[in-house]
Amino acid sequence: MELPPEIGEVLLTEEMIRDKIRELAKRITDDYRDRDLLLVGVLKGAFILMSDLAREISLPLEFDFMAVSSYGSATRTSGVVRILKDLDFEISGRHVLLVEDIIDSGLTLLYLLKYLQTRTPASLEVCALMRKEGIQKVALDVRYEGFEIPARFVVGYGLDYRQKYRNLPYVAVMREEPPHSG
Ligand code: IMP
Ligand code: MG
Repeated sequence: MELPPEIGEVLLTEEMIRDKIRELAKRITDDYRDRDLLLVGVLKGAFILMSDLAREISLPLEFDFMAVSSYGSATRTSGVVRILKDLDFEISGRHVLLVEDIIDSGLTLLYLLKYLQTRTPASLEVCALMRKEGIQKVALDVRYEGFEIPARFVVGYGLDYRQKYRNLPYVAVMREEPPHSG
């Protein structure tokens, strides 16, 4: 693929991502062996992770998706997110694993966890491919965490800059670090 000059250093190669997903999937397979697992993906960023992760989990699982968007720059501090697409299924009594691409401030995840918790799942855990180092504004318990990465703006493997670059098979930094919109 011909890449524009704003795509910089590759932080996570295809191989690193593949190995990590296998490792996470193995832990998830072991942990949910006797439970009915429902994967809930956060669109759009998590769609590629969701697809790769699910195929490495050796359990009869189910899928659901939510789509969220932040209200703009003000919300990055308030943590208010807008739900664009809610769950299709009732999660009461279900074992839910929320699948996220990346945790930056952690506010989106915190909001989603609170929201899902009100629907009384039997259990609620988080799998995130990446977490940015040291800038979470909130304490989050992420059971399945892929990589800790530097606090830079990254694209690829589901993550976008202005809706582009989600299809890069690796994760790379943007040379110019734009303020992102979630
Ligand atoms: P948070 O609420 O600050 O944790 O932001 C989480 C959301 O912002 C993620 O689900 C991503 O959609 C988006 N995001 C955060 N950091 C990046 C990045 O470096 N590149 C692309 N999207 C990002
Ligand atoms: Mg996003």
